[in-house]
Amino acid sequence: MPFKIIRNDITKVRADAIVNAANSSLLGGGGVDGAIHRAAGPRLLAECRQLGGCETGDAKITGGYDMPCRYIIHTVGPIWQGGGHGEPEQLYSCYKTSLRLAEEYGCESIAFPLISAGVYGYPKDKALDIALSAIKDHLDEHDIDVTLVVFDKQAVVLSRELTDDVRSYIDDNYAEKNAVPRSEAFMGKRSARFDRKFSMSMPTADIAEDTCLCEAAVPDLSKLDESFSEALLRMIDERGLTDPQVYKKANIDRRLFSKIRSDKEYRPSKATAVAFAIALELDMDETESLLGKAGYTLSNSIKADVIIKYFIERADYDIYTINETLFSFDQALIGC
Ligand code: APR
Repeated sequence: MPFKIIRNDITKVRADAIVNAANSSLLGGGGVDGAIHRAAGPRLLAECRQLGGCETGDAKITGGYDMPCRYIIHTVGPIWQGGGHGEPEQLYSCYKTSLRLAEEYGCESIAFPLISAGVYGYPKDKALDIALSAIKDHLDEHDIDVTLVVFDKQAVVLSRELTDDVRSYIDDNYAEKNAVPRSEAFMGKRSARFDRKFSMSMPTADIAEDTCLCEAAVPDLSKLDESFSEALLRMIDERGLTDPQVYKKANIDRRLFSKIRSDKEYRPSKATAVAFAIALELDMDETESLLGKAGYTLSNSIKADVIIKYFIERADYDIYTINETLFSFDQALIGC
């Protein structure tokens, strides 16, 4: 998964490069800085002394020493002064210069803390927006696995409006709260489909309940035995999209995509199948059809599925926002 958010102590995370939220002296401090220096050992400080400090928004690289990484990239975030002193641009630059350094040193993976969101007082939701924007811009052009490591749940702060909207959607739809018997839920769904089909296109027939004549029972035979990957590749072609456009938008690793493209029987994980539905901007029926090719469905008894349906119903296909929301509701992310 090219981009993920996890909760952890960044000194415990394995990556080619670990980013330190340093200060301009590069001689250590508290927070992430203190934790990394403690974990890396005294040789880190000895190397930092040679670097001659670092400007806000810039980044410098050292060895990883006793940390589980090849390199430590030290970047200096802006101190929050209300947002009108160039803080957003400086913070964006921290991520951009760190990512560029990581690429220069051949790193295939990098882990960031939420820079400036601690001692430097940057509002966490704003700091997160800048982080996601900079990471997303970089991943549009480059292939590197990026992990955003948040120390406390409060670090992932969705906008109040989005949180309230998603929470009320979950309350209205999440099966655990609305214990509806499966048969009624099923019939309710099918009768809606029957109503739509038979109220519009033909007089209501006296249909035996077990005869399902709705569109789902009369599929396009040419697509009946289509595999997941055949359906995926067809939809990509039908939309005139390129492979990179799709796998980047789906937060899918390029190598996995190549595997799916070369193996028509490849069966993806549900997180991968859903990520492709989002990348192709499928509506609910199209999503269910594509997931069905891999043997999955979106269920109201799975909170993550309900959140995915929230975004599909609103035609909001930004996978970073979706994963941020899934993370904030303690659900697994999509992509792979
Ligand atoms: N792992 C991951 N994240 C952490 C860890 C950790 N071990 N420790 C703290 N954090 C989180 C904080 O909760 C915050 O969200 O990292 C984010 C950045 O917080 P700070 O470390 O305070 O960094 P910053 O806000 O950029 O301030 C930098 O603080 O430690 C000093 O020397 C540093 O002067 C510099 C200033």
